[in-house]
Amino acid sequence: MKITVVGAGYVGLVTGACLAEMGNHVVCLDVDERKIAMLQRGEIPIHEPGLDAVVQRNAAAGRLQFTTDVASAVGHGTLQFIGVGTPPDEDGSADLQYVLAAARNIGRHMTDYKVIVDKSTVPVGTADKVRAAVREELAARGLSMDYAVVSNPEFLKEGAAVDDFMRPDRVVVGSDDERATLLMRAVYAPFMRNHDKLIVMDVRSAEFTKYAANAMLATRISFMNELALLAERVGADIELVRKGIGSDPRIGTHFLYAGAGYGGSCFPKDVKALIHIGADNGVPLQVLNAVEAANERQKHVLVERVVARFGEDLTGRTLAVWGLAFKPNTDDMREAPSRVVIAELVKRGAKIRAYDPVAMHEAQRVLEGVPGVTFVTGQQAALEGADALLIVTEWKEFRNPDFEFIKATLKQPVVFDGRNLYEPALMKAFGIEYLAIGRAAALPSDA
Ligand code: UDX
Repeated sequence: MKITVVGAGYVGLVTGACLAEMGNHVVCLDVDERKIAMLQRGEIPIHEPGLDAVVQRNAAAGRLQFTTDVASAVGHGTLQFIGVGTPPDEDGSADLQYVLAAARNIGRHMTDYKVIVDKSTVPVGTADKVRAAVREELAARGLSMDYAVVSNPEFLKEGAAVDDFMRPDRVVVGSDDERATLLMRAVYAPFMRNHDKLIVMDVRSAEFTKYAANAMLATRISFMNELALLAERVGADIELVRKGIGSDPRIGTHFLYAGAGYGGSCFPKDVKALIHIGADNGVPLQVLNAVEAANERQKHVLVERVVARFGEDLTGRTLAVWGLAFKPNTDDMREAPSRVVIAELVKRGAKIRAYDPVAMHEAQRVLEGVPGVTFVTGQQAALEGADALLIVTEWKEFRNPDFEFIKATLKQPVVFDGRNLYEPALMKAFGIEYLAIGRAAALPSDA
């Protein structure tokens, strides 16, 4: 099939590459000339495991092309996937200008039937706006042409996006047009050969499903984060509680990890947007408001612990920070808890030695201008001259570090762990003071 993907960012690029992998002819369109030039040279602008191979293989086979030329891109695909950004407006609602600009471009250049597929996360009712934008552009050309607008939200996890696309749990398609549904079924059939995982519904329900999924996941995390704080006070261990409840199939084991708060390009943005949709429609979403507030608080928990241990004034202190990306296997720093942690520590006078296995470049970009931050080249180098260590992201290489080196190198052997990577008893055996999230009860008493 001939497919156009508008937006060669995270969602668009993964979508385009994976669709090309199944034999489709895909053209990816983006306004960013630098990005398109990079992709044409076979360079991938984002860090996403496995994506480079899929892009390079399909580009070499001529099935995946990159362009900034709107007219030819619109002319190419019967299916036009829109995968552009929907950043939050000042008030938290999703900014639709890029989605609607993409729709207008399609209306301006189309000459035959198109299925316009909203892949970006957009508020309920956006498909109607996309439809209207296309209709207006067609009318301006004196045309009336057949087209469909369907909603097909993505559920890709950064760091596992290629795998998620190739082996989806489900594919949600919101469509009111039979021909469009048939084409969407055909596009996704190769990804679900053993089980039909396509869930077809009306457009509005599909748009809503994306927000509902992310809001539910964010809720689980904030819920566990609050319980972790309480567990410490009442002498329980949140890691045991997690196992104890996760074994109930109604609860399930995923997304129950207490930590330093959720970040990334989706949860914070989508929770805010859904709260906004609720308020706009006269349904205040009390649970979600609390989810967001709890997450904001959680991003400060590590700092509170440092202050409790070393005092409010951190002048003269140097703190090592392991993990800057919002989660492992990505270089994405959007809404990363590390940004809050570092800003708050620096505000109190601390110096930071920061390390991340992949996100150093991004971190330097987003933390530019924050004083007192030194970016170092390895996890051990971060410890040199540091008073204590903070762990903010659970990269695999932090899971079994040289504890003796940590003990010997830190001026005070204190580890503030925002991701519960270690066994408190083991830390104690190494002579390391260990402050994790919700785990005080797991420390053996001195008796
Ligand atoms: C998420 C959704 O999972 C995906 O379906 C959607 O399409 C986009 O948003 P992503 O943002 O890539 O994906 O990251 P995810 O792995 O879901 O993690 C989000 C945040 O939650 C991270 O900051 C992570 O550290 C945190 N998290 C996750 C926890 O704190 N505890 C957990 O148990 C799980």
